[in-house]
Amino acid sequence: MTGSDRTTGRPLHTEQGAAYAGILGIGAYRPARLVPNAEIVEAIDSSDEWIQQRSGIKTRRFADDSETVIAMSVAASRGALEQAGVDPRQVDCVIVATVSHLLQTPSAATAVAHEIGTDQAAAFDISAACAGFCHGIALASDLVRGGSARYVLVIGVERLSDITSTTDRGTAFIFADGAGAAVVGPSTVPAIGPVVWGSDGEKFDLIRTREDWRDVLASEKPVMPHLVMQGNEVFRWASYSMAKVAQQALDRAGVTVDDLDCFVPHQANNRITDAMARAMRLPAHVRIARDIIDAGNTSAASIPLALERMIRDGEAKSGDVALLVAFGAGLSYAAQVVTVP
Ligand SMILES: CC(C)(COP(=O)(O)OP(=O)(O)OC[C@H]1O[C@@H](n2cnc3c(N)ncnc32)[C@H](O)[C@@H]1OP(=O)(O)O)[C@@H](O)C(=O)NCCC(=O)NCCS
Repeated sequence: MTGSDRTTGRPLHTEQGAAYAGILGIGAYRPARLVPNAEIVEAIDSSDEWIQQRSGIKTRRFADDSETVIAMSVAASRGALEQAGVDPRQVDCVIVATVSHLLQTPSAATAVAHEIGTDQAAAFDISAACAGFCHGIALASDLVRGGSARYVLVIGVERLSDITSTTDRGTAFIFADGAGAAVVGPSTVPAIGPVVWGSDGEKFDLIRTREDWRDVLASEKPVMPHLVMQGNEVFRWASYSMAKVAQQALDRAGVTVDDLDCFVPHQANNRITDAMARAMRLPAHVRIARDIIDAGNTSAASIPLALERMIRDGEAKSGDVALLVAFGAGLSYAAQVVTVP
């Protein structure tokens, strides 16, 4: 079957947006409580050494009751807006990427929009797990260029500690909490490259919450459905496939690894990051995000958190060329080259 373009009908007025879009500001919120491996190991019969060797993680942060998905999103957004020099009332779209906003409806985004002070903004959540932030950046770029919005707030936020079992050996030491945000708006130069994204639904079960709500309610002792992961298979898939996706994102943006200043992959596992860097033959001058060491895997929040840290530490400076590559449950993935704000 082939599709065909529409050729008939009354022509309607359409909008034209900015010629180009870019990330104008980045913000982050890290929960106060640091949780070292020592606090995790007993319940999963593990060790600090094993966790560091296999994943790179030394500590992570878990949110307390006041550090809700919405509160962390608002805090990260304020930082991004401040860096961008954009008044909250100018934001006309808020996109929250998350899998751990525990209300089925309404979205977290409407509350975030209200709390930052922009009640007129379009606001919605997206569910693309660890790839959510890069999906959001792609949407925001197209909204700005298509004329549907001028300033878009993209937030990646998780409280994975709510949906991770402390006794699950395959996940308890990996997942953590936090929020990162970016303001996307008009740019006089192209500053967000084309997205390379996709999914592999055949691998739907590799990372998922174990039960849906019906199964939970049907059980004798209902507990919060928690994340389960076939880590080994995810590891092989990511190490093998994501370098190719990253290379396509570079090609489509018209740059090579030599032009790159920073590599900001999803902070899933330092060994996956190493495998990607090797496969892409990243030159020694490219700075690589290693936020996972003390942030753990914060899913949708991991890339903005890692980028914010690189900027704060002076590893990424304004105008640098950065490659973002995100992948996770679904399985789903998205990658793009961006200019550091
Ligand atoms: C989870 C992960 C770190 C596990 O590492 P791994 O090397 O694949 O570990 P394996 O499952 O093959 O297990 C290796 C050994 O460690 C043991 N092990 C598993 N979990 C352990 C733990 N938490 N502590 C100590 N030992 C553990 C296993 O029992 C096994 O022992 P054996 O060799 O005696 O049988 C790794 O698979 C991974 O990072 N996967 C991808 C995670 C990811 O990216 N997730 C997010 C995507 S968004």
